[in-house]
Amino acid sequence: MSDVTTATEATGTPPDAAPGATSLPVAPAGPATAVDVRGVSKVFATRAGTVTALDDIHLSVAAGEFVSLIGPSGCGKSTLLRLVADLDQPTSGEIAVFGRPPRVAREAQDYGIAFQQAGLLPWRSVAANVELPLELHGVGRRERAARAAELLALVGLTEFAGHFPHQLSGGMQQRVAIARSLAESPSLLLMDEPFGALDEMTRERMQTELVRLCAESGAAVVFVTHSIPEAVFLSQRVVVMSPRPGRIAQVVPVDLARADERTDDLREDAAFFAAVTAVREALHGGHGADVPTRGVDVR
Ligand SMILES: Nc1ncnc2c1ncn2[C@@H]1O[C@H](COP(=O)(O)OP(=O)(O)OP(=O)(O)O)[C@@H](O)[C@H]1O
Ligand SMILES: [Mg+2]
Repeated sequence: MSDVTTATEATGTPPDAAPGATSLPVAPAGPATAVDVRGVSKVFATRAGTVTALDDIHLSVAAGEFVSLIGPSGCGKSTLLRLVADLDQPTSGEIAVFGRPPRVAREAQDYGIAFQQAGLLPWRSVAANVELPLELHGVGRRERAARAAELLALVGLTEFAGHFPHQLSGGMQQRVAIARSLAESPSLLLMDEPFGALDEMTRERMQTELVRLCAESGAAVVFVTHSIPEAVFLSQRVVVMSPRPGRIAQVVPVDLARADERTDDLREDAAFFAAVTAVREALHGGHGADVPTRGVDVR
């Protein structure tokens, strides 16, 4: 892990985000299906020819469900997330977000996004970055400030509220982006390797916090990761993808403790290891476990 500078090291005090410390408003009740992907394909035309990034993807994510996407580099995980987020359009097939086209869902602020590049505005302070979505939607100054303070406490960055992004490590910037994605208590979170830049301890703490937050708020999550244990710890289902063309190879149900009961003890549970093994085998599907799967962290 390249980023080892955390708030803990930088300030000498532990991040003030003890489980249960912050509670967020419950997302409004909506249709039972958060994301419905029906027969979606995506073909990119490049100078070197066409690339079929996704081929006939069918995936339904229930409201409040946590689903991870895992698979080798280039299998189309980010592409699928970008289509759901209305950042690109499918070549064929259809996507519905809470029963509406992705564009309408985006305009209605149905979801929050946290992608691998933090994407912070360099001229705005940490707090002002977290407040941005609220500001864009007309939330008053005092309410914005209170919400940003609550979220920065959650991600352990209270003392950095007045800093600017370039004064933060990559992992800290990423935590600001995660706080920003939660600002409007979205009923759907789209997260693309959001914890990739975090050191291992911060990463595990953020996983525990995310599971708790989603259980509390009822948000559905589509979460892209290269880490099998991370996918298993977080998810109700792990969608295993295969590359060229990107397809769903297998969907592994994870039958562990209820989301709001997933604590660190779970990481040492036999059922946890069994689920990790099931996902690993699905990833290697038929090739034997000794064949390396490029870009997937199987530790
Ligand atoms: N804008 C684009 N133009 C052309 N090809 C693209 C574009 N975006 C993605 N691709 C191709 O689509 C395929 C899937 O890319 P994608 O970024 O979705 O993979 P990924 O599963 O997220 O990989 P990683 O784990 O490395 O992030 C790749 O072959 C990639 O080269
Ligand atoms: Mg990607």
